[in-house]
This record gives sequence, C-alpha cells and structure tokens, in this order.
Amino acid sequence: MTSEPGNNSEYRRAWSRFATGVTIITSSEPGGGAHGMTANGVTSVSLDPPLALICVAHSRNSFSLIDESGEFGISVLAQSQKSVAMHFAKDPAERGPTPDDMFVKLGSGPAVISDALANFTCEVISRHIEGDHTIFVGRVKEFSTQEGVPLIFYDASFPVLEL
Ligand SMILES: Cc1cc2nc3c(=O)[nH]c(=O)nc-3n(C[C@H](O)[C@H](O)[C@H](O)COP(=O)(O)O)c2cc1C
Repeated sequence: MTSEPGNNSEYRRAWSRFATGVTIITSSEPGGGAHGMTANGVTSVSLDPPLALICVAHSRNSFSLIDESGEFGISVLAQSQKSVAMHFAKDPAERGPTPDDMFVKLGSGPAVISDALANFTCEVISRHIEGDHTIFVGRVKEFSTQEGVPLIFYDASFPVLEL
C-alpha cells in the first residue's frame, strides 16, 4: 500500500518495520542525579575520531538536559533488560522510582545503565535541528562492552531474538 507521510499513524507503522536494537540515552540532571530515556534513533558516525549521533525530540526532558550539559551516555540493552526499556520509555511522572543500582558511573561523564551490553559516554560536538528533533553528534570519551543477547524493537514490541 502506498501512503503519503501526512498520515501519521500509517507513517509510524511503516517505520515500525525497521528492526533496531534498544538503547537508553542518559544525561545528568542539574542536581547531580542521572536521567534516562529509551531510544533507537542512535547510530555510530565515525571510527576515527569515534563519533556517535542521537536524535532527540524537543519535547523530551532529555533534550534540555543534553543541550545544557553538553554530554550524554548511550547504553545498549540486553534482552534481559526489557523492563529497563519500558521504564525509561514512560514520562518521568509515570515511571515510579528509578532504583539507584540501575545506573553506574563509567568515568567522569554521565552515569550509564548497569549490565548493558555496551556503554558509551560522549561529549556533544555539534547540534543539528531537523524538524521536531535535534541530532546531537558526540565524541566518544569512554566505552565498555560485555557479552550477551541484545534487546530488539520491532513492530512496537520486543520480540525475542533467537541466535
Ligand atoms: C523503542 C523506543 C525508541 C524510542 N526512541 C526515541 C528516540 O530515538 N528519540 C526520542 O526523542 N524519543 C524516543 N523514544 C521516546 C522516549 O523514550 C520517551 O518519550 C521518554 O518518555 C522520554 O523521556 P524524557 O522526556 O524524560 O527524556 C523512544 C521510545 C521507545 C519505546
């Protein structure tokens, strides 16, 4: 079926056919606390220098936190972390408390998610306003990896990946 992008729900459904991994974009709150948001608008940009980009809607709390602090973290979730993805996909007012041990420090940058398959902390080097999102390009300062099976997002759900 061919549609024009004006039909919002059909347009979203078309993008739901794109299977992705799931990340949590983390940022630092002014009081020193850690903040997270579930995201799949994330990609590696360059290996040398190591650059990554994230796409953040202007309506998100994370937008001003990242814009003002100039840094963000990316945590690639494992299949066992579906509840983490669902927690940080909700508006903070509806999330309930975030357990302290959900976050861990990698270095001097923003906290990242404990037990993620990969963690990166990035310093914002450029901002590109495109439509209702800003693309933040970050230079990776620190990263960590561990073995495991990734969490997948497809067709508005988290199907179990069989490897
Ligand atoms: C699988 C998935 C991927 C998402 N990807 C993005 C994204 O790339 N960028 C974005 O701005 N919001 C994305 N969201 C929506 C945010 O996670 C959601 O709006 C969250 O409540 C934002 O939190 P905040 O307002 O505290 O930053 C995604 C949600 C889900 C479930």
